[in-house]
Amino acid sequence: MAVTVAILGSLNLDVVFSCDSLPAPGETILCSDVRSGPGGKGLNQAVAARRAGCAVILIGAVGRDANGVTLLGTLEQEGIDPDRIARLDDAPTGLAHIMVDRGGENSIVVASGANKADFPLRSLIDGIEAPVFLAQLEVGLAPIKAFFAQARRAGSRTILNAAPAIPAASALFEDSDILILNEHELAQFSGASRPASDEAAIAEAARSLMVRDDQAIIVTLGARGTQIIDATGSRRIPARMVTVTDTTGAGDCFCGVLAASLARGAALADAVGRANLAASLAVQRSGAAAAMPTAAEIDAA
Ligand code: ADP
Ligand code: NA
Repeated sequence: MAVTVAILGSLNLDVVFSCDSLPAPGETILCSDVRSGPGGKGLNQAVAARRAGCAVILIGAVGRDANGVTLLGTLEQEGIDPDRIARLDDAPTGLAHIMVDRGGENSIVVASGANKADFPLRSLIDGIEAPVFLAQLEVGLAPIKAFFAQARRAGSRTILNAAPAIPAASALFEDSDILILNEHELAQFSGASRPASDEAAIAEAARSLMVRDDQAIIVTLGARGTQIIDATGSRRIPARMVTVTDTTGAGDCFCGVLAASLARGAALADAVGRANLAASLAVQRSGAAAAMPTAAEIDAA
């Protein structure tokens, strides 16, 4: 039987506008292309883990609308069981508007809709078993708390991708064996006005978030790769040099593949290396979930 990763998270329909540059406040711009596709951190990470070769239990919610049908169809195509996706009458499916400029930089606004529903998610968590539990912050904090409590009951490892940076989510850090943040999220959670620049400053900021000695913090640094910080020290794992098409979902690819590798028993540094490799493939393709590489593609790279 395949190793399983349990993921609690959002499902969104992404509407992606390709533009020359991102609009400034007050500015209106015309874009060359718009297309829609499956997204949301939960769905993206689920697709990344699934394509990386794991079975995936995904807990989440969509509305009873056309976008929800589209996203459930994506799960089915990817071989992810939709049994633990609540279908809500009174909330729309999550919707994200994403602008991507020519350099691959993006700007995103999310209408959470069904993703922020509390009770249905909590009721879907009981009894889940998997070696790794992975969550992000596009759903309510109470369901994540319940999800990590289930992980503890099951004796499993917990990974919190602390994105987007919601200050109240620091209450979940004590329940997280591994925290994953990008440099902007690290700055926000550590109360800095801008991202730390060098390795030592990043390590210091990461340590300020640590609430347990046995925690590892992984900071993703875009084209500069990744930094792992734990009680014993800090080290950088560089990214591959690639030509970027669309960085949407890079962090999600990283998290999903990391969770899949850890579930299969890889050591943390090896799992980070494989997740870096996978994310370097995802940034060369447009789209979020659609850009996730398969295990064979990661092996070939
Ligand atoms: P987020 O998508 O959350 O902003 P990052 O931009 O830090 O996250 O990217 C996550 C990971 O994706 C990085 O740690 C790296 O492995 C990979 N990655 C991102 N951008 C690039 C790039 N330009 N070249 C190669 N790898 C990249
Ligand atoms: Na991409």
